[in-house]
Amino acid sequence: MSRVIQVSLPVDELPKYWYNILSDLPEKLPEPLNEDGRIERLKDILVPECIKQESLSDRWIKIPEEVRELYVRAGRPRPLHRAVGLEKMLKTPARLYYKREDLSPTGSHKVNTALAQVYYAANAGYSRVVTETGAGQWGTAVAYAASLMGLKSTIYWVREAYEWKVERRMFMKLYGAEVLASPSDKTEFGRKLLKQDPDHRGTLGIAISEAAEDALKNDDTAYPVGSVLNYVLMHQTVIGLEVVKQLEIIDEVPDVMIGCLGGGSNFGGFTLPMIGKALRREVDKKIRFVAAQSEAAPNLVKGVYQYDFPDTAQILPRIKGYTLTHNFNMPSIWAEGLRYHMASPVISLLKNLGLVEAVSYPKDEIAVFEAARMFIQAEGFLPAPESSYAIRAMIDEALKAKEAGEEKVIVANVSGHGFLDLEAYSKVLRL
Ligand SMILES: Cc1ncc(COP(=O)(O)O)c(C=O)c1O
Repeated sequence: MSRVIQVSLPVDELPKYWYNILSDLPEKLPEPLNEDGRIERLKDILVPECIKQESLSDRWIKIPEEVRELYVRAGRPRPLHRAVGLEKMLKTPARLYYKREDLSPTGSHKVNTALAQVYYAANAGYSRVVTETGAGQWGTAVAYAASLMGLKSTIYWVREAYEWKVERRMFMKLYGAEVLASPSDKTEFGRKLLKQDPDHRGTLGIAISEAAEDALKNDDTAYPVGSVLNYVLMHQTVIGLEVVKQLEIIDEVPDVMIGCLGGGSNFGGFTLPMIGKALRREVDKKIRFVAAQSEAAPNLVKGVYQYDFPDTAQILPRIKGYTLTHNFNMPSIWAEGLRYHMASPVISLLKNLGLVEAVSYPKDEIAVFEAARMFIQAEGFLPAPESSYAIRAMIDEALKAKEAGEEKVIVANVSGHGFLDLEAYSKVLRL
Protein backbone atom coordinates (compact mmCIF):
# COMPACT_ATOMS: atom_id res chain seq x y z
CA MET A 1 0.00 0.00 0.00
CA SER A 2 1.65 3.23 -1.08
CA ARG A 3 -0.33 5.67 1.06
CA VAL A 4 -1.24 5.61 4.72
CA ILE A 5 -4.99 5.36 5.22
CA GLN A 6 -5.19 4.49 8.92
CA VAL A 7 -2.90 5.25 11.86
CA SER A 8 -3.28 3.11 14.98
CA LEU A 9 -1.26 3.46 18.17
CA PRO A 10 -0.23 0.50 20.35
CA VAL A 11 -1.75 0.35 23.84
CA ASP A 12 1.52 1.44 25.49
CA GLU A 13 1.38 4.69 23.47
CA LEU A 14 -1.80 5.69 25.35
CA PRO A 15 -0.99 9.08 26.96
CA LYS A 16 0.29 8.88 30.55
CA TYR A 17 -0.56 12.54 31.24
CA TRP A 18 -3.46 14.84 30.42
CA TYR A 19 -2.53 18.21 28.96
CA ASN A 20 -3.48 21.29 30.99
CA ILE A 21 -3.61 24.34 28.73
CA LEU A 22 -3.82 26.72 31.72
CA SER A 23 0.00 26.51 31.86
CA ASP A 24 0.39 27.84 28.30
CA LEU A 25 -2.42 30.39 27.92
CA PRO A 26 -1.12 33.82 26.86
CA GLU A 27 -3.48 35.47 29.37
CA LYS A 28 -4.75 34.41 32.77
CA LEU A 29 -8.11 32.66 32.53
CA PRO A 30 -10.84 34.75 34.20
CA GLU A 31 -11.82 33.06 37.49
CA PRO A 32 -15.38 32.04 38.42
CA LEU A 33 -17.18 34.57 40.64
CA ASN A 34 -17.72 33.67 44.27
CA GLU A 35 -21.10 35.37 44.72
CA ASP A 36 -23.20 34.26 47.74
CA GLY A 37 -20.79 31.43 48.59
CA ARG A 38 -21.36 29.64 45.31
CA ILE A 39 -17.74 28.51 45.03
CA GLU A 40 -17.70 27.00 48.56
CA ARG A 41 -20.95 25.24 47.70
CA LEU A 42 -19.24 23.38 44.84
CA LYS A 43 -17.61 20.98 47.31
CA ASP A 44 -21.11 19.64 48.09
CA ILE A 45 -21.86 19.17 44.38
CA LEU A 46 -18.81 18.22 42.31
CA VAL A 47 -16.19 15.49 42.69
CA PRO A 48 -13.53 16.84 45.14
CA GLU A 49 -10.46 15.75 43.11
CA CYS A 50 -11.95 17.48 40.04
CA ILE A 51 -12.40 20.76 41.94
CA LYS A 52 -8.65 20.62 42.63
CA GLN A 53 -7.92 19.92 38.97
CA GLU A 54 -9.95 22.96 37.84
CA SER A 55 -7.18 25.42 38.69
CA LEU A 56 -3.93 23.42 38.47
CA SER A 57 -1.06 25.26 36.84
CA ASP A 58 1.16 22.28 35.84
CA ARG A 59 1.31 21.54 32.14
CA TRP A 60 1.08 17.75 32.52
CA ILE A 61 -1.27 16.00 34.94
CA LYS A 62 -0.67 12.31 35.58
CA ILE A 63 -3.51 10.01 34.52
CA PRO A 64 -3.99 7.45 37.33
CA GLU A 65 -2.98 3.95 36.20
CA GLU A 66 -6.50 2.70 37.03
CA VAL A 67 -7.99 5.31 34.65
CA ARG A 68 -5.48 4.39 31.92
CA GLU A 69 -6.61 0.80 32.34
CA LEU A 70 -10.24 1.90 32.03
CA TYR A 71 -9.32 3.80 28.84
CA VAL A 72 -7.80 0.65 27.40
CA ARG A 73 -10.92 -1.32 28.35
CA ALA A 74 -12.94 1.35 26.49
CA GLY A 75 -10.84 0.76 23.38
CA ARG A 76 -8.19 3.50 23.54
CA PRO A 77 -6.01 4.50 21.77
CA ARG A 78 -8.41 5.15 18.88
CA PRO A 79 -7.38 5.23 15.20
CA LEU A 80 -7.01 8.20 12.88
CA HIS A 81 -8.36 7.52 9.39
CA ARG A 82 -7.57 9.20 6.11
CA ALA A 83 -10.88 9.96 4.34
CA VAL A 84 -9.77 8.63 0.97
CA GLY A 85 -13.36 7.95 -0.11
CA LEU A 86 -14.48 11.47 0.72
CA GLU A 87 -11.42 13.01 -0.98
CA LYS A 88 -12.34 11.09 -4.13
CA MET A 89 -16.01 12.03 -3.93
CA LEU A 90 -15.15 15.73 -3.53
CA LYS A 91 -12.30 15.62 -6.05
CA THR A 92 -10.29 17.75 -3.67
CA PRO A 93 -6.50 18.05 -3.58
CA ALA A 94 -6.79 18.37 0.23
CA ARG A 95 -5.81 15.45 2.46
CA LEU A 96 -8.64 14.74 4.90
CA TYR A 97 -8.29 12.85 8.18
CA TYR A 98 -10.76 11.97 10.93
CA LYS A 99 -10.34 10.74 14.48
CA ARG A 100 -12.61 7.86 15.51
CA GLU A 101 -14.18 8.81 18.87
CA ASP A 102 -17.30 7.06 17.58
CA LEU A 103 -15.60 3.76 18.49
CA SER A 104 -16.35 4.27 22.19
CA PRO A 105 -18.52 1.63 23.94
CA THR A 106 -21.32 4.13 24.55
CA GLY A 107 -20.96 5.93 21.22
CA SER A 108 -19.01 9.12 21.91
CA HIS A 109 -15.95 10.89 23.27
CA LYS A 110 -17.82 11.51 26.53
CA VAL A 111 -16.41 8.33 28.16
CA ASN A 112 -12.95 9.95 28.40
CA THR A 113 -14.00 12.20 31.26
CA ALA A 114 -16.87 10.05 32.61
CA LEU A 115 -14.39 7.29 33.49
CA ALA A 116 -12.04 9.75 35.20
CA GLN A 117 -14.72 11.62 37.17
CA VAL A 118 -16.58 8.50 38.31
CA TYR A 119 -13.26 6.87 39.26
CA TYR A 120 -12.42 9.88 41.47
CA ALA A 121 -15.97 9.86 42.93
CA ALA A 122 -15.74 6.15 43.80
CA ASN A 123 -12.30 6.69 45.37
CA ALA A 124 -13.70 9.52 47.51
CA GLY A 125 -16.38 7.15 48.86
CA TYR A 126 -19.46 8.34 46.97
CA SER A 127 -22.01 5.61 46.25
CA ARG A 128 -24.10 7.53 43.70
CA VAL A 129 -23.57 9.94 40.80
CA VAL A 130 -26.08 12.27 39.14
CA THR A 131 -25.73 14.20 35.96
CA GLU A 132 -27.44 16.10 33.15
CA THR A 133 -27.52 15.09 29.53
CA GLY A 134 -28.60 16.71 26.24
CA ALA A 135 -27.97 14.32 23.36
CA GLY A 136 -27.97 11.42 25.82
CA GLN A 137 -24.36 10.63 25.01
CA TRP A 138 -23.03 12.10 28.25
CA GLY A 139 -25.72 10.36 30.32
CA THR A 140 -24.86 7.02 28.73
CA ALA A 141 -21.15 7.59 29.40
CA VAL A 142 -21.81 8.28 33.09
CA ALA A 143 -24.20 5.31 33.38
CA TYR A 144 -21.49 3.11 31.82
CA ALA A 145 -18.70 4.41 34.07
CA ALA A 146 -20.93 4.06 37.17
CA SER A 147 -21.81 0.48 36.27
CA LEU A 148 -18.14 -0.47 35.82
CA MET A 149 -17.30 1.02 39.21
CA GLY A 150 -20.37 -0.21 41.11
CA LEU A 151 -22.05 3.18 41.73
CA LYS A 152 -25.73 4.07 41.32
CA SER A 153 -26.52 6.70 38.70
CA THR A 154 -29.36 9.13 37.98
CA ILE A 155 -29.53 10.98 34.67
CA TYR A 156 -31.59 14.17 34.15
CA TRP A 157 -32.24 14.19 30.45
CA VAL A 158 -33.58 17.23 28.52
CA ARG A 159 -37.19 16.16 27.77
CA GLU A 160 -36.94 17.21 24.13
CA ALA A 161 -34.41 14.41 23.44
CA TYR A 162 -35.61 11.97 26.16
CA GLU A 163 -38.90 11.55 24.35
CA TRP A 164 -37.64 10.60 20.91
CA LYS A 165 -34.44 8.74 21.83
CA VAL A 166 -36.22 5.69 23.26
CA GLU A 167 -33.41 3.27 22.38
CA ARG A 168 -30.72 5.39 24.01
CA ARG A 169 -32.93 5.53 27.10
CA MET A 170 -32.98 1.70 27.13
CA PHE A 171 -29.19 1.71 26.67
CA MET A 172 -28.74 3.82 29.83
CA LYS A 173 -31.20 1.63 31.73
CA LEU A 174 -29.28 -1.49 30.71
CA TYR A 175 -26.31 0.00 32.52
CA GLY A 176 -28.58 0.27 35.57
CA ALA A 177 -29.20 4.04 35.48
CA GLU A 178 -32.32 5.85 36.68
CA VAL A 179 -33.26 8.07 33.72
CA LEU A 180 -35.60 11.05 34.19
CA ALA A 181 -37.03 13.54 31.71
CA SER A 182 -36.00 17.05 32.73
CA PRO A 183 -37.66 19.12 34.07
CA SER A 184 -38.60 16.29 36.47
CA ASP A 185 -40.67 16.11 39.64
CA LYS A 186 -37.62 14.84 41.56
CA THR A 187 -36.22 18.31 42.26
CA GLU A 188 -37.69 21.54 43.61
CA PHE A 189 -36.56 23.44 40.51
CA GLY A 190 -38.06 20.83 38.17
CA ARG A 191 -41.39 20.85 40.04
CA LYS A 192 -41.51 24.67 39.82
CA LEU A 193 -41.04 24.59 36.04
CA LEU A 194 -43.53 21.73 35.55
CA LYS A 195 -46.12 23.73 37.47
CA GLN A 196 -45.69 26.60 35.00
CA ASP A 197 -45.73 24.26 31.98
CA PRO A 198 -46.46 20.51 32.46
CA ASP A 199 -45.03 19.78 28.99
CA HIS A 200 -41.85 21.85 29.40
CA ARG A 201 -39.31 20.72 26.74
CA GLY A 202 -36.31 21.36 28.98
CA THR A 203 -32.83 22.68 28.23
CA LEU A 204 -29.34 21.62 29.23
CA GLY A 205 -29.18 24.60 31.62
CA ILE A 206 -32.28 23.26 33.43
CA ALA A 207 -30.97 19.67 33.54
CA ILE A 208 -27.68 20.95 35.00
CA SER A 209 -29.68 22.80 37.68
CA GLU A 210 -31.60 19.63 38.61
CA ALA A 211 -28.44 17.51 38.84
CA ALA A 212 -26.73 20.20 40.94
CA GLU A 213 -29.74 20.43 43.31
CA ASP A 214 -29.83 16.62 43.68
CA ALA A 215 -26.09 16.42 44.47
CA LEU A 216 -26.37 19.32 46.90
CA LYS A 217 -29.17 17.60 48.85
CA ASN A 218 -27.65 14.10 48.98
CA ASP A 219 -24.36 13.51 50.82
CA ASP A 220 -23.70 10.16 49.14
CA THR A 221 -23.95 11.77 45.68
CA ALA A 222 -21.48 13.58 43.41
CA TYR A 223 -22.08 15.33 40.11
CA PRO A 224 -19.70 14.49 37.24
CA VAL A 225 -19.96 17.33 34.70
CA GLY A 226 -20.14 16.67 30.95
CA SER A 227 -18.53 19.75 29.44
CA VAL A 228 -17.44 23.40 29.85
CA LEU A 229 -15.20 23.15 32.94
CA ASN A 230 -11.39 23.14 32.63
CA TYR A 231 -10.91 19.63 34.05
CA VAL A 232 -13.47 18.16 31.65
CA LEU A 233 -11.58 19.57 28.67
CA MET A 234 -8.32 18.41 30.25
CA HIS A 235 -9.53 14.78 30.59
CA GLN A 236 -10.61 14.95 26.95
CA THR A 237 -7.09 15.90 25.80
CA VAL A 238 -6.32 12.18 25.45
CA ILE A 239 -8.00 12.61 22.05
CA GLY A 240 -5.77 15.44 20.85
CA LEU A 241 -2.60 13.97 22.38
CA GLU A 242 -3.16 10.79 20.39
CA VAL A 243 -3.83 12.83 17.25
CA VAL A 244 -0.59 14.82 17.69
CA LYS A 245 1.34 11.50 17.83
CA GLN A 246 -0.57 10.01 14.92
CA LEU A 247 0.10 13.02 12.69
CA GLU A 248 3.77 12.96 13.66
CA ILE A 249 3.99 9.29 12.62
CA ILE A 250 2.73 10.13 9.11
CA ASP A 251 4.68 13.39 8.96
CA GLU A 252 1.63 15.61 8.49
CA VAL A 253 1.03 19.05 10.00
CA PRO A 254 -2.59 20.16 9.79
CA ASP A 255 -3.71 23.40 8.15
CA VAL A 256 -7.12 23.13 9.78
CA MET A 257 -8.46 21.17 12.78
CA ILE A 258 -12.24 20.97 13.18
CA GLY A 259 -14.55 19.80 15.94
CA CYS A 260 -18.21 20.41 16.75
CA LEU A 261 -18.92 22.47 19.84
CA GLY A 262 -21.79 22.68 22.29
CA GLY A 263 -19.99 23.51 25.55
CA GLY A 264 -16.48 22.73 24.32
CA SER A 265 -15.25 19.40 25.70
CA ASN A 266 -15.10 17.70 22.33
CA PHE A 267 -13.54 20.60 20.47
CA GLY A 268 -11.16 21.32 23.35
CA GLY A 269 -10.10 17.72 23.87
CA PHE A 270 -9.32 17.40 20.19
CA THR A 271 -7.56 20.72 19.58
CA LEU A 272 -5.96 21.88 22.86
CA PRO A 273 -2.79 19.74 22.65
CA MET A 274 -2.09 21.15 19.16
CA ILE A 275 -3.07 24.69 20.25
CA GLY A 276 -0.58 24.26 23.11
CA LYS A 277 2.16 23.31 20.65
CA ALA A 278 1.28 26.37 18.57
CA LEU A 279 1.39 28.60 21.66
CA ARG A 280 4.79 27.17 22.59
CA ARG A 281 5.94 27.77 18.99
CA GLU A 282 6.61 24.08 18.40
CA VAL A 283 4.87 24.14 15.00
CA ASP A 284 6.00 26.35 12.17
CA LYS A 285 2.71 26.50 10.30
CA LYS A 286 -0.28 28.69 11.04
CA ILE A 287 -2.96 26.17 11.99
CA ARG A 288 -6.63 27.20 11.99
CA PHE A 289 -8.85 25.71 14.70
CA VAL A 290 -12.52 25.75 13.70
CA ALA A 291 -15.48 25.03 16.00
CA ALA A 292 -18.67 23.92 14.18
CA GLN A 293 -21.96 24.98 15.76
CA SER A 294 -25.68 25.21 15.14
CA GLU A 295 -27.47 28.50 14.49
CA ALA A 296 -29.86 27.28 17.20
CA ALA A 297 -27.10 27.82 19.78
CA PRO A 298 -24.28 29.81 18.20
CA ASN A 299 -22.64 30.76 21.49
CA LEU A 300 -19.17 31.41 20.00
CA VAL A 301 -20.50 32.95 16.79
CA LYS A 302 -23.14 35.30 18.19
CA GLY A 303 -22.71 35.25 21.96
CA VAL A 304 -21.23 38.00 24.11
CA TYR A 305 -17.99 37.44 26.06
CA GLN A 306 -19.13 38.05 29.62
CA TYR A 307 -19.84 36.45 32.99
CA ASP A 308 -22.93 34.22 33.03
CA PHE A 309 -24.45 31.29 34.89
CA PRO A 310 -23.78 27.85 33.38
CA ASP A 311 -27.16 26.65 34.75
CA THR A 312 -30.66 28.12 34.58
CA ALA A 313 -31.38 27.91 38.33
CA GLN A 314 -28.19 29.91 39.07
CA ILE A 315 -26.87 27.37 41.58
CA LEU A 316 -23.37 27.26 40.06
CA PRO A 317 -20.91 30.19 40.09
CA ARG A 318 -20.88 32.59 37.15
CA ILE A 319 -18.03 31.93 34.73
CA LYS A 320 -16.69 34.04 31.88
CA GLY A 321 -17.37 32.82 28.36
CA TYR A 322 -19.21 33.53 25.13
CA THR A 323 -22.87 33.23 26.06
CA LEU A 324 -26.32 33.70 24.60
CA THR A 325 -27.39 34.12 28.27
CA HIS A 326 -28.58 31.39 30.62
CA ASN A 327 -32.30 31.83 29.98
CA PHE A 328 -32.01 32.20 26.21
CA ASN A 329 -34.74 30.31 24.36
CA MET A 330 -32.93 27.99 21.94
CA PRO A 331 -34.99 26.39 19.18
CA SER A 332 -35.11 22.57 18.97
CA ILE A 333 -32.65 20.74 16.75
CA TRP A 334 -31.91 17.05 16.35
CA ALA A 335 -28.26 17.59 17.37
CA GLU A 336 -29.36 18.25 20.92
CA GLY A 337 -25.76 17.95 22.19
CA LEU A 338 -24.91 21.29 20.56
CA ARG A 339 -27.85 23.16 22.12
CA TYR A 340 -26.15 24.92 25.03
CA HIS A 341 -26.11 28.63 25.76
CA MET A 342 -22.45 29.03 26.73
CA ALA A 343 -18.97 28.05 25.54
CA SER A 344 -16.29 26.93 27.98
CA PRO A 345 -14.07 29.64 29.52
CA VAL A 346 -10.90 28.17 27.97
CA ILE A 347 -12.30 28.01 24.44
CA SER A 348 -13.93 31.43 24.88
CA LEU A 349 -10.63 33.03 25.88
CA LEU A 350 -8.89 31.41 22.88
CA LYS A 351 -11.68 32.70 20.61
CA ASN A 352 -11.36 36.16 22.13
CA LEU A 353 -7.62 36.11 21.44
CA GLY A 354 -8.28 35.17 17.80
CA LEU A 355 -6.76 31.68 18.14
CA VAL A 356 -10.04 29.81 17.54
CA GLU A 357 -12.68 30.39 14.84
CA ALA A 358 -16.32 29.33 14.80
CA VAL A 359 -18.93 28.66 12.11
CA SER A 360 -22.62 27.92 12.52
CA TYR A 361 -25.03 26.02 10.28
CA PRO A 362 -28.77 26.53 9.73
CA LYS A 363 -31.30 25.20 12.21
CA ASP A 364 -33.07 23.02 9.63
CA GLU A 365 -29.91 20.86 9.67
CA ILE A 366 -30.31 19.91 6.00
CA ALA A 367 -26.83 21.05 4.94
CA VAL A 368 -25.29 19.27 7.90
CA PHE A 369 -27.17 15.99 7.50
CA GLU A 370 -26.44 16.04 3.75
CA ALA A 371 -22.77 16.14 4.75
CA ALA A 372 -23.36 13.10 7.00
CA ARG A 373 -24.97 11.32 4.05
CA MET A 374 -21.91 12.05 1.88
CA PHE A 375 -19.65 10.83 4.67
CA ILE A 376 -21.51 7.57 5.20
CA GLN A 377 -21.61 6.91 1.44
CA ALA A 378 -17.92 7.70 0.97
CA GLU A 379 -16.45 6.40 4.23
CA GLY A 380 -19.06 3.93 5.49
CA PHE A 381 -19.33 5.20 9.08
CA LEU A 382 -22.45 6.78 10.54
CA PRO A 383 -21.61 9.93 12.54
CA ALA A 384 -23.69 11.27 15.44
CA PRO A 385 -25.82 14.27 14.41
CA GLU A 386 -23.48 16.51 16.44
CA SER A 387 -20.39 15.12 14.69
CA SER A 388 -21.99 15.84 11.29
CA TYR A 389 -21.41 19.54 11.98
CA ALA A 390 -17.65 18.92 11.99
CA ILE A 391 -17.99 16.83 8.84
CA ARG A 392 -19.92 19.66 7.14
CA ALA A 393 -17.13 22.08 8.04
CA MET A 394 -14.47 19.62 6.82
CA ILE A 395 -16.27 19.24 3.49
CA ASP A 396 -16.60 23.03 3.14
CA GLU A 397 -12.87 23.46 3.81
CA ALA A 398 -12.04 20.68 1.34
CA LEU A 399 -14.15 22.39 -1.34
CA LYS A 400 -12.43 25.72 -0.66
CA ALA A 401 -9.05 23.97 -1.07
CA LYS A 402 -10.30 22.53 -4.37
CA GLU A 403 -11.36 25.95 -5.59
CA ALA A 404 -7.96 27.37 -4.68
CA GLY A 405 -6.11 24.28 -5.94
CA GLU A 406 -4.38 23.89 -2.57
CA GLU A 407 -3.16 20.66 -0.93
CA LYS A 408 -4.46 21.49 2.54
CA VAL A 409 -4.33 19.02 5.42
CA ILE A 410 -7.70 19.01 7.19
CA VAL A 411 -8.32 16.96 10.35
CA ALA A 412 -11.73 16.56 11.99
CA ASN A 413 -12.98 14.72 15.05
CA VAL A 414 -15.90 12.33 14.66
CA SER A 415 -17.07 12.73 18.25
CA GLY A 416 -19.67 9.96 18.17
CA HIS A 417 -21.67 7.44 16.16
CA GLY A 418 -25.28 7.86 15.12
CA PHE A 419 -26.64 4.32 15.50
CA LEU A 420 -29.23 5.54 17.99
CA ASP A 421 -30.04 8.73 16.05
CA LEU A 422 -31.41 7.31 12.82
CA GLU A 423 -34.79 8.93 13.37
CA ALA A 424 -33.09 12.34 13.13
CA TYR A 425 -31.52 11.49 9.78
CA SER A 426 -34.71 9.92 8.49
CA LYS A 427 -36.84 12.98 9.39
CA VAL A 428 -34.47 15.61 7.98
CA LEU A 429 -33.36 13.70 4.89
CA ARG A 430 -36.84 12.18 4.34
CA LEU A 431 -35.52 8.61 4.11
C1 LIG B 1 -21.62 13.10 19.90
C2 LIG B 1 -21.41 14.42 20.54
N1 LIG B 1 -20.48 15.25 20.02
C3 LIG B 1 -20.27 16.48 20.52
C4 LIG B 1 -21.01 16.94 21.59
C5 LIG B 1 -20.73 18.34 22.03
O1 LIG B 1 -20.43 18.48 23.33
P1 LIG B 1 -19.28 19.41 23.91
O2 LIG B 1 -19.11 20.56 23.01
O3 LIG B 1 -19.73 19.82 25.23
O4 LIG B 1 -18.14 18.49 23.94
C6 LIG B 1 -21.98 16.12 22.18
C7 LIG B 1 -22.74 16.57 23.34
O5 LIG B 1 -23.60 15.92 23.86
C8 LIG B 1 -22.18 14.82 21.64
O6 LIG B 1 -23.09 14.02 22.15
